[in-house]
Amino acid sequence: MSEAPAPEPLDVESPDPALFDKVVNLCKRRGFVFPSAEIYGGFRSTYDYGPVGVLLLRNVKEAWWRSMVQFRHDVVGLDAAILSPPAVWEASGHLQNFTDPLVDCRVCRERFRLDKLDDPEVCPNCGAKQSFTEARQFNLMFRTYAGPVEGAGAEVFLRPETAQGMFVNFKNVLETSRKRPPFGIAQVGKSFRNEITPGNFVFRTREFEQMEMEYFVPPAEAGKWYEYWCAERLDWYVGLGIPAAKLRLRAHDADELSHYSAGTSDVEFLFPWGWDELEGIANRTDYDLRQHAEHSGERLEYFDQAAGERYVPHVIEPAAGATRAAMAFLMAAYDEEEVAREGQGKGELRTVLRLHPRIAPYKVAVLPLSKKPELQAPANEVLGLLQPHLMCDYDETQAIGRRYRRQDELGTPFCVTVDFDTLDDHAVTVRDRDTMAQDRVSIAGLLDHLDPRLDP
Ligand code: GAP
Repeated sequence: MSEAPAPEPLDVESPDPALFDKVVNLCKRRGFVFPSAEIYGGFRSTYDYGPVGVLLLRNVKEAWWRSMVQFRHDVVGLDAAILSPPAVWEASGHLQNFTDPLVDCRVCRERFRLDKLDDPEVCPNCGAKQSFTEARQFNLMFRTYAGPVEGAGAEVFLRPETAQGMFVNFKNVLETSRKRPPFGIAQVGKSFRNEITPGNFVFRTREFEQMEMEYFVPPAEAGKWYEYWCAERLDWYVGLGIPAAKLRLRAHDADELSHYSAGTSDVEFLFPWGWDELEGIANRTDYDLRQHAEHSGERLEYFDQAAGERYVPHVIEPAAGATRAAMAFLMAAYDEEEVAREGQGKGELRTVLRLHPRIAPYKVAVLPLSKKPELQAPANEVLGLLQPHLMCDYDETQAIGRRYRRQDELGTPFCVTVDFDTLDDHAVTVRDRDTMAQDRVSIAGLLDHLDPRLDP
């Protein structure tokens, strides 16, 4: 009897290496991300967010805050200082443990992180074999001095994670916010790490933004809340338009765990170079509160009056990167398609960022068909109507087709075109980024038309 045919392989997503350069080029060309200090030749994997990049990044952070703070009654916000004294990092364990193993190639003198080398026997730069020095532990924290005297007593650190701000303020927040476990403290802000090998554009940089939340729970509930936050955080990316097939949760092996963690799972995204970390969800146990209590002499506990018991809460921490997430949203949204050029029947390639409207830098572009003065008044009227509600772009030069293509590359969900008919019918043409379909909509009804489409 002949064997049944092998089943078709499942439609598993595979990485697309060409996507990387396409997105990096688009970021430069359209003003998302520029190399920092570019007129001086750039500055070591450091980047500046341009006119549309800053909007994208703000939208990512705002979407996170909305889901983690605004829509919850059990999470409050915080904005702690970036500069902090050595005592914080002594207690947290970062002075001792926040290190990466560094090796130098004796032939080409390049430095590498040992744990990120594909083959620890071969230098990826010059190809030399067994040319590496013994690994040294390199502390990733940036150190500087507060005040005019540089010396041991003036030493301070730029925070390498926002998390410690939440632990050192645990007592302040508990006393002022009327929250009780389970409750969380959330923070968005810059962190700094002296990465040995920054790279892959804004994926790994020395200055970056984090979005972290420390969720304080009764010790017996830690497992339950760990599972809960793993699922919640994966859903957040899917809800903002990243296809589920390009996301996965991966539990850390025991030898990968940070010094504070009893269990960590990463939300991973299929980047052009393969699966890599977007966010870590860690069960930090009571490690941080106990450490800070011991080092500061403060009681960092919760007294449950109903049960008559005192305990040190355990912490579940979803820790995401805002800059890294912005990059993933761009990569997931990038699309190219062949479209007919109007009136010519010929095809042309359209590049479009299919960003979720909440993430898109501009929600609407207002485009008067020509620069003629009689169109400027209604175009300004439309802009004035939309601007209090939505981030808008305004563009009155070039052929309308080229302006549409530009907005497609910025990911703008809708273009509103003001033409000569507008003068008579007080209506505008609304063009949809994804379908390119055009609707005629009255100016008076424009907001009602856009609202449900921008907040699906
Ligand atoms: N408080 C825990 C913590 O900081 P982490 O896994 O080291 O955990 C959390 O960092 C997230 O911060 C990462 O998943 C990543 O998105 C982002 N991140 C960390 N280092 C980064 C870097 N050098 N450049 C850009 N983003 C980074």
